[in-house]
Amino acid sequence: MELNKLERYWLIAVGVVLGAFTAATIVALLFFNIRLPSPVERIDPQRLEETEFARPGIRRLTGSRYEAYIVAKSWAFEVGPDAGTPPTLRFPAGSEVTFYVTSKDVMHGFQIEGHTANLELVPGQIARTTARFNRPGRYNIICNHYCGAGHHLMYATILVE
Ligand code: CUA
Repeated sequence: MELNKLERYWLIAVGVVLGAFTAATIVALLFFNIRLPSPVERIDPQRLEETEFARPGIRRLTGSRYEAYIVAKSWAFEVGPDAGTPPTLRFPAGSEVTFYVTSKDVMHGFQIEGHTANLELVPGQIARTTARFNRPGRYNIICNHYCGAGHHLMYATILVE
C-alpha cells in the first residue's frame, strides 16, 4: 500500500502520542503508585447505624496518624457529634489522615481543597483516601458532584493547627 508523505507523518505523530500516553500510564502505575480510587468495601446504605459510620468522626491511631469516618447525605457531611457549623475536623499539623467516606442517599463528591484527595461517593460503597496535612490552615471539603438543590451548600472544613 502506497502512503502519501503527509499520511506517514500523521501516522508517526499519532504513534508517538499514543506511545507517550501509554508510557505515562505505566510510569504513574509503577513509580508514583497512582491508582483509580476503588471501593474499599460494600455497605448497606440503609443500615449505616450498624457500622463504624454510626459514630462519624476522628479516631486517633498511632503518632500522627488518624482515621476519619464521614457520612455524606443531602446536603451535608456528617463528621462527628460536636463538629459545629460548618462541620469541622481538627488535626495537628503533620497529621496523616485516612478518610473513610460513604453516602447514605445519592451520589456525592468529596474533594479536599489543596490536596489530591478526590472521591466519588456512591451509596453502597465505602471510599477511602489518605491525605497528609503539613501546613496549618483551613481546608474545605466540598461536594463536587451535583446532588440536588442544596449541592452548593454541601461542605465541611478541616482545621490544621
Ligand atoms: Cu452532595 Cu453535591
